[in-house]
Amino acid sequence: MPNVVVIGAQWGDEGKGKVVDLYAGEAEAVVRFQGGNNAGHTLVVEGEKIILHLIPSGILHPDTVCCIGNGVVVDPQVLLQEIDGLRAKGRWPGDDALVVSGAAHVILPCHRELDKAREGRAGRAQIGTTGRGIGPCYEDKASRKGVRVADLLEPEALLPKLEALLDERNALLRHLGAPPFDPRAVWEELCAAGERIRPFVGDVTGRLHRWTREGRKVLLEGAQGTLLDIDHGTYPFVTSSNTTAGAACTGTGLPPRDLHAAVGITKAYVTRVGAGPFPTELHDAMGDRLRERGGEFGSTTGRPRRCGWLDLVALRSACRMNGLTGLAVTKLDVLEGIDPIRVCTAYRLDGERVDHVPARAEDLERCEPVYEELAGWTEPLAGARSPEDLPANARAFLDHVAEATGCPVVLASVGPGREQTVEFANPFTLCD
Ligand code: IMP
Repeated sequence: MPNVVVIGAQWGDEGKGKVVDLYAGEAEAVVRFQGGNNAGHTLVVEGEKIILHLIPSGILHPDTVCCIGNGVVVDPQVLLQEIDGLRAKGRWPGDDALVVSGAAHVILPCHRELDKAREGRAGRAQIGTTGRGIGPCYEDKASRKGVRVADLLEPEALLPKLEALLDERNALLRHLGAPPFDPRAVWEELCAAGERIRPFVGDVTGRLHRWTREGRKVLLEGAQGTLLDIDHGTYPFVTSSNTTAGAACTGTGLPPRDLHAAVGITKAYVTRVGAGPFPTELHDAMGDRLRERGGEFGSTTGRPRRCGWLDLVALRSACRMNGLTGLAVTKLDVLEGIDPIRVCTAYRLDGERVDHVPARAEDLERCEPVYEELAGWTEPLAGARSPEDLPANARAFLDHVAEATGCPVVLASVGPGREQTVEFANPFTLCD
């Protein structure tokens, strides 16, 4: 009966795609519940690299249904491109494999344009968004002017909605010096996309309730990470959705009692793309080393990621906030050859020791990390498949993470491949 939610425990890019793909084979369904194509979930299967932005990471398992829940924002063109791309690679399992909630909101061309126009003018206040229109789409959802996937299937009713929305959005676009949009041209494009998306639109919430009642396993796939949460993250340098475990309920219609376990994904160090505070960031050769060895370049935008030591203060907070029942530590292999390895156990702010993440980004910006040093290892980890294959110091590193956060490590990833995984416990059987 267990449903498991997989959550990014840092600033995104923790390797959720790989972990979801690993567990997906055991699940009836994999469900995205927030965010949109700002995500970039990388899967490496049989040596082939596949990057998914919108379609859940279970799509490579032929018997697993992939669902896009009501909390997701859907760019119809991206969805269709992803379907076509998987078809072209011979990786599309069939049209029954995907169900999209009619209540999910649609990213419109004006959302993308607004995102870029605002960032272009923001100067030092730039958030460094992915430019995919995520924020403006969630704004229209909250202002109750948004267009939903189900609207794409009703062309006559769609046109006046678009006209009302663009009436406001075009005024803002003009103010920002960006070109306005013709409602009819957008409408025609959306109607055409709607016809292609029609076969996939269905009742995601109803299916999830049925599968849960029948005791089938559902995997809820978070996007971005806890520190990018609109409420709990490093505001305003965050994304526009709730990225924490609670969103798995609001973004799907599953009640809290139907989330049985939460696995948090954390790298063995930290990365961040875009602007915002990052206490353990490294601006030296060690930072470059992590970036090179870890291949830390954005899978959505190609931007180099900022790199730093593991931040246990932030990770502890992520464990609590998401009710994590297990941690998956990814990219452990990237630390090999580094000695000592540093981990941040507290911050120092205005001379005081701080054990939590301050609410204000300005305060976090001023926090100095307090480090502890752990012994490293030189043995390559890429071939490790079971706990016994890990060198003692790598085990000690994982034990330290578990002890400092109070959360058991259920998995360590030692390379991009599905098989490059060391499993300590299975989150599904843990809560059986
Ligand atoms: P947005 O989600 O495009 O509005 O971007 C807001 C912030 O979240 C920026 O700092 C982005 O770099 C960051 N962000 C959004 N999606 C991801 C992701 O999937 N991984 C890492 N960072 C992300």
